[in-house]
Amino acid sequence: MCGIIGYIGKTNCIKKVIEGLETLEYRGYDSAGIAYVQNNKIVIKKEKGKIYNLKKSLDLTTKTNMGIGHTRWATHGKANKTNAHPHKVGKFTIVHNGIIENYAELKKDLIIHGYIFKSETDTEVACATIDYYYQNEKDILKALQKAIKTFSGSFAIGVICEDDPNNLYAIKKASPLIVATSNDGNFIASDVPAILKWTNKYFLLNDLEICKLSNSSIIFYDINLKEITKELKIFEGSISDTSKNGYDHFMLKEINEQDIVISNTINAYYDGTKKSLVNNFGFIAKYNNIHIVACGSAYHAGYIGRYLIETYGNIPVTIEVASEYRYKKCFYDQNTLVILVSQSGETADTLAALRKAKNDGIDTLAIINVEGSSIAREADYVIYTKAGCEIAVATTKAYLAQVSIFSLIALYLGIIKNNLKKDDINKINTELKKLPNYIRETIHNPKYETIAKKIHTSQNIFFIGRNIDYGISLEGALKLKEISYINAVAYQAGELKHGTISLIELGTPVIAISTKKELNEKMISNIKEVKARGANVILITNMNCENDSYNEVIKIQSFHPLLQTIITIIPLQLIAYYVAKNKNCDIDKPRNLAKSVTVE
Ligand code: M6R
Repeated sequence: MCGIIGYIGKTNCIKKVIEGLETLEYRGYDSAGIAYVQNNKIVIKKEKGKIYNLKKSLDLTTKTNMGIGHTRWATHGKANKTNAHPHKVGKFTIVHNGIIENYAELKKDLIIHGYIFKSETDTEVACATIDYYYQNEKDILKALQKAIKTFSGSFAIGVICEDDPNNLYAIKKASPLIVATSNDGNFIASDVPAILKWTNKYFLLNDLEICKLSNSSIIFYDINLKEITKELKIFEGSISDTSKNGYDHFMLKEINEQDIVISNTINAYYDGTKKSLVNNFGFIAKYNNIHIVACGSAYHAGYIGRYLIETYGNIPVTIEVASEYRYKKCFYDQNTLVILVSQSGETADTLAALRKAKNDGIDTLAIINVEGSSIAREADYVIYTKAGCEIAVATTKAYLAQVSIFSLIALYLGIIKNNLKKDDINKINTELKKLPNYIRETIHNPKYETIAKKIHTSQNIFFIGRNIDYGISLEGALKLKEISYINAVAYQAGELKHGTISLIELGTPVIAISTKKELNEKMISNIKEVKARGANVILITNMNCENDSYNEVIKIQSFHPLLQTIITIIPLQLIAYYVAKNKNCDIDKPRNLAKSVTVE
C-alpha cells in the first residue's frame, strides 16, 4: 500500500525523505514523489516506477528542511506520473494513503466552485477540498477539521500549505500514521521502520486527530481543535530489522529468524507452568463458541488454530475470510469470542470484521504483530506475536508466530479441559525447548534448492493434505504463487478425485503433506492416485514411507501434534523461495502486492 514520510527539522530533508521512502518500499508501490519547501515555494518531483527514477530527478543536496514523500500503490487511476503523489491544489500540497470514498461527489461540487483537476485520483480531490475550506476559513487547522468531517473512507494525509512554510500537518482516519521526534527534527510516517534510522521515539496518531509539526515542536489536536497530550512510545526493535543482514532477500532473512521468533513468542506467554497460561489465556475459558477471522496467511494460521482449538479445547470454531465475514449473517451470542489475526494490525477487511463484531456486542481478541496498530487498539483483548518487523511482502516469521500463539491457546485449553494427559504435557514442554534447534535444522536442508530447480518451470503445482495438513497446504500454495507467479492450488487430498485430478498429467508437481499417523494410509492412497496419472510427488512427512509413495521425500522431525505444524511449514516456505529465485522474481516485492492491505 502507499507509504508516507514527512520531515521538518534542522537538517536537509530530501535525503531523509528518500531514505525513508526506500525503507517503505516493502509496502508495495508503482510510483513515487516528493514535495519540499525551497525559498518559501513548494517544489514537487514525481516519477513512475521505482524510487531510483525519482532519485535521478533530484539534487539530494538542495537546501530545504521540510518535505513530504510518497510511494503510491494505484487505486484510483493508472500508475503514471500525473496520478503519482504529491498533489498540489491552490495553496496546499498533500500525500495520502487510503481511499476517499465520496471523492466523486466532492469533485462535482469543487468543479462548480472552479477547481480544475489534472489527475484521476481521489487524493487531488482531497487536496482541493482542504484548499476550498481554507479559502473560506483562512485557518489551516479549521480547514483540516472540516475536511476530516467531510471525507468518508480511510485516509492518512501529510499536508503542506504555501502560506505556512514552517509547519507540516497530518490528519488520519482508518489508515496508519505515526508521528516521530528526534534531536534534529520531527517526522510523520506510515510505519515505524521508516524513521528508525533517526529515532525510535514516536506517537500514534488516532483517528480524527490533527497534528502540527515544526522543527522544534509537535502539537496534537482533537477533532474540536482542543490541544491534547499523547503518550510517547519507544520502539523496542532494532534497525537491523530493516536491513538484510547479508541475506539475498528479506524473505530468506525472516525465514532464518524463525527459531528466535518462536522462542520469543512462546517465552513471552509460557514459562512451563500452568499459571503462566492461565494468566495470559485465562480469559478464553468462558467462551464456548469461537470465530476466527483474518485474511491471507493470517487466515491460514487461523485455519491451523481452528483445528488445534477444536481438538484440545472441545470448542466449535468457525473460520472465515474477513472480506466475507463482514457481509455475512453471523451466528453468535454472549459466549462467542471473535479472534482477529493480523500481522500488520491494519488490514482493512479484518478491521471492518472487528468493528462488526464489536457493534454486535461480541467480545474480540486480536492476535497482532504490530504494537499499537488499529486492530490491536480496538480489540477487547490483544495477544502480540513477537515476530519483530517483517519486511518481505510474503509473510513467514509472523505467520509462524501466529501459529505458535494458537498452539499455546490449545495447550491452555487442553490442560484446563483435561484433554491433554500428563505425559502429553511433559512431551510438549520438552519439545518446546528443542523447537528452535529443530527449526534451524529444518531450514538448513539442501533439498529445497534441488527440488526448486526441478519444478520452477511448471505451470501448475498442487498441494494436498488432510485435516491440519490441508491448512499447511493452503499456506504453502499461497507462498509459492505470490512470489513465483506459478498457479499453485491447495486441495483436501480426499477431494482431488472429485474433479481436480483431471488436471494431473505427466510431470505435474504435487506437494503432499502427511504428518498425522492416523491419516497417513489414506494420504498414501491419494498420493498413489495422482502418481498413477503421472504426477511428480514431493512428499513432506514426519513418518517413514515406502519408496513408491513419492518421487522426492523431505523428512521432517516428528513432534507432538499440537506443535507439529510449526515445523511442517518451513520446507514449503523455502521451496517457494528457491522456486521464485530460480525464476528471477522480485521475491521481497512481488508484483501487484502490498505488505499491508489498508483498502477493502
Ligand atoms: O497484515 P495481515 O496479517 O492482516 O495481512 C493479511 C494478508 O494480507 C497477508 O497475510 C498476505 O496474504 C501475505 N502477503 C501472505 O504472504
